[in-house]
Amino acid sequence: MNLFTKTKKLGFVAGLLVAGTLTSLAQDKVEIKLNPNEAKHTISRHIYGHFAEHLGRSIYGGFYVGEDSKIPNTNGIRNDVVAALRTLKIPNLRWPGGCFADTYHWKDGIGPKEKRPTIVNTWWGGVTENNSFGTHDFLNMCELLGTEPYLAGNLATGTPQELVDWVQYVNFAGESPMSKLRRENGREKPWNVTYWGVGNEAWGCGGNMTPEYYSDLYRKYATFMTGWSNDKLFRIASGANSSDYNWTEVVMKNVPKNLIEGMALHHYSVIDWNKKGPATDFTEQQYFTTMQRALFMEELVTKHLAIMDKYDPQHKVALVVDEWGGWYDVEPGTNPGFLYQQNTIRDAMIAGATLNIFNNHANRIKMANLAQAINVLQAVILTKEEKMILTPTYHVMEMYNVHQDATLIPLKIEAANEYKMGNESLPAVSASASKAKNGLVHISLTNIDHKNSREISIDVKDLKANAVSGRILTSKKVQDYNSFENPTLIKPVAFKGASIKGGKLNVKLPPVSVVVLELK
Ligand code: AHR
Repeated sequence: MNLFTKTKKLGFVAGLLVAGTLTSLAQDKVEIKLNPNEAKHTISRHIYGHFAEHLGRSIYGGFYVGEDSKIPNTNGIRNDVVAALRTLKIPNLRWPGGCFADTYHWKDGIGPKEKRPTIVNTWWGGVTENNSFGTHDFLNMCELLGTEPYLAGNLATGTPQELVDWVQYVNFAGESPMSKLRRENGREKPWNVTYWGVGNEAWGCGGNMTPEYYSDLYRKYATFMTGWSNDKLFRIASGANSSDYNWTEVVMKNVPKNLIEGMALHHYSVIDWNKKGPATDFTEQQYFTTMQRALFMEELVTKHLAIMDKYDPQHKVALVVDEWGGWYDVEPGTNPGFLYQQNTIRDAMIAGATLNIFNNHANRIKMANLAQAINVLQAVILTKEEKMILTPTYHVMEMYNVHQDATLIPLKIEAANEYKMGNESLPAVSASASKAKNGLVHISLTNIDHKNSREISIDVKDLKANAVSGRILTSKKVQDYNSFENPTLIKPVAFKGASIKGGKLNVKLPPVSVVVLELK
């Protein structure tokens, strides 16, 4: 499969108004009803997960520069990146792919670096991979980052034995051939990795399989993975390509529920796989279409969850959206196989709206991974030699991290909320709210309308809140971005547009803005 020409089904944006019910056509007033009495589900912090593939400059130059680099590092991992990701509170990191995972043989990446074999990264630019960043490097880096590893196992070109050996190598505390090998390579204690992917995009780069064939293979691999870990593994089945509902249907039907903890889903906000458009110099129409693709996530998760409910009424299996984000043309002059793109306010809008969708489905979505963390697709960090910049997406994820492990407060958007372009319209404002363990309530709001602000009114009587503060992320133009020359053009600042009066929280939300409020 050629990833640059592949077509992903772009479903019609029929379910876009789920987040809010239109009752009038007024353009600028939005009413939000919070239901604190119905708050019962925790927003898993793992919804805020990330993804690091051996792709372009994600690992090499992004996370890892090697011990001998002039760039300040700890065991080869960039110190600036570690500090930025710790601030972000990334809960988990998926590795080593993506498509790369189904070509990866983990034993190539252990032992003395000079003895590791080189391979060719056939998916991503045909570059030589010297395996200097392998299992120990990744898992030790996760410890440095304070994040949980999510290992993506090779189902397509590996064997069940190879995957079982990997589980044994990283998780087994006793005496066994693999734990002996781990100790010989310098690591006494196991890392206790909980999250395991069993294949990736098995419908495409992971083997072009049918869901029936994949389900059978999955059952075999998943059966033998257990028995080497103290804690229960969380095994994630390769999920559907966007609106391929039949994939979810077949896998959920065929895989016994004692063999699966998570069902994946991949969805990218791409305008057209053959004509993606530029990352920065895009038109208003391209912006609107990207927002359609992003908001389509609401319909997607609703429909995939309905199918999952049919085969798993007890909700034992979680939905794991382990690849999402915007996908555009690569930056001019860069390797097309490296997927390096800039990140604008448009990406902040994708992030704000998507995370609101995930939060609001906290009862069933337990994990998600933005694609990808550094220098690839909708990255939170871009690097250029010793320089590093934080993208607008980084700032949204940092602002939203107050929702991690907080209790979701369900909400309904009740008044007019239309963002129009020609004959089409989208809901302009999306929102989610939660109550943290310390009692603070946070409300995140995103207005994707590139021209009009919105007056928002939220009844907060039941919350007994009388003080509000917050931060806003916006810029003059939706095409604005942080560059290496101007790295802090876009950053969150204090928000002065919210006040509480008579039990009502009133907010003036500027065009293309993300606001996170804290109520006391
Ligand atoms: O994130 C880039 C690629 O997109 C991944 O390798 C693959 O899983 C998906 O098609």
